[in-house]
Amino acid sequence: MFADLETAAALADGDCTVPQNWAAYTPDEHRVWDLLFQRQVDLLPGRAAPEFLAGLDMLRLDQPGIPDFAALSDKLMAATGWQVVAVPGLVPDAVFFEHLANRRFVAGRFIRSRDQLDYLQEPDVFHDVFGHVPLLADPVFADYMQAYGKGGLRSIRYGALHKLARLYWYTVEFGLLRTDAGLRLYGAGIASSASESRFALDDPSPNRIEFDLQRVMRTQYRIDDYQQTYFVIQSFDDLLRQTLETDFAPLYAALDAQPDLPADAILPADTIVSRGTQAYRSGGL
Ligand code: PHE
Ligand code: FE
Repeated sequence: MFADLETAAALADGDCTVPQNWAAYTPDEHRVWDLLFQRQVDLLPGRAAPEFLAGLDMLRLDQPGIPDFAALSDKLMAATGWQVVAVPGLVPDAVFFEHLANRRFVAGRFIRSRDQLDYLQEPDVFHDVFGHVPLLADPVFADYMQAYGKGGLRSIRYGALHKLARLYWYTVEFGLLRTDAGLRLYGAGIASSASESRFALDDPSPNRIEFDLQRVMRTQYRIDDYQQTYFVIQSFDDLLRQTLETDFAPLYAALDAQPDLPADAILPADTIVSRGTQAYRSGGL
């Protein structure tokens, strides 16, 4: 997949990072960022978690367009000790976790083309940076991401990576948060998508269920379409506390004895925030 020499060298190097090559972006690539950025900034007030909205300022650098990771990392480092580093594409799981455990977020450097504003197969710099960086500026979420990285390395040793990956999916990528003003989105996969920002909160189709650690780690997910279920956390503090205070090793063992759950399952023990109609069906976005 990564046939070019720079990429091969990066993989051989072990940490898989490459220079962002910020100067190589074309004016049109910067305009695609600005377009996507403005669209989400207009859409997210009243939809995104207050912590996410507060973190958006992190992305406002001296010049418009795709953020320069070096300048972005300087700001983020001052706020929470995180950095953003460029990678050529998907990296091996252990490498990904190792970066997170050291407070480095890996981001793709390419940007989608103008005719793919709404759908792409692989995360690009807009998803990775707009979706993920705002919450890395939040001290609690910043700690959660680091703890997740350490837990990820541990899950590999227990052969339980696919279970822990579901926790990432249903929180970091597609999580919802309960607030006094109503449900808010915080997952990067939602926050970086105009259509899913609406679907996740407003559409009657998906289930919205209160977050439960074991339940989430049993639940399959879709990578090619909107989620059929979103899990709602009480607060970032609660998410961090639950995951830090729980030793996952016995959980992994217990979960081995239980069947996986389909993405649209509802269990008697679930606390349902809103029961979905599951009327939305498509063959992919
Ligand atoms: N406590 C988890 C373990 O024992 C690690 C973890 C922390 C996982 C935070 C996810 C998020 O493996
Ligand atoms: Fe992501």
